[in-house]
Amino acid sequence: MHLTNHPVLGKDDRKTIQFYFNNKLLNAKEGQTIAAAIMANGIKKMGVSRKLQQSRGLFCGVGRCYSCFVTVDGLEHVLSCSTLVEEGMEVYSNLSDPDVRRGENEY
Ligand code: FES
Repeated sequence: MHLTNHPVLGKDDRKTIQFYFNNKLLNAKEGQTIAAAIMANGIKKMGVSRKLQQSRGLFCGVGRCYSCFVTVDGLEHVLSCSTLVEEGMEVYSNLSDPDVRRGENEY
């Protein structure tokens, strides 16, 4: 749910944009983070943990815990709490932890 009129902050006149989350078209406000836009659409689960397959979502909200990472336009492990949503962006849940050793033998 997006607030359109806040008693303290006033009227929200930001432009509404659209993006995809797991192939579902959702609305967002310009200037929102991906995490805020996903949660404003009633979705709290952004993926599952690698080991226990438990739901992951927003935890710290400031880019420190890596709980909220998603795939954005093909780029894996983007922190949704600190990345702004853009028109037409394609966002997918990440279903595993980052592979920090990828490319290790390429050097
Ligand atoms: S919620 Fe902690 S890094 Fe995004």
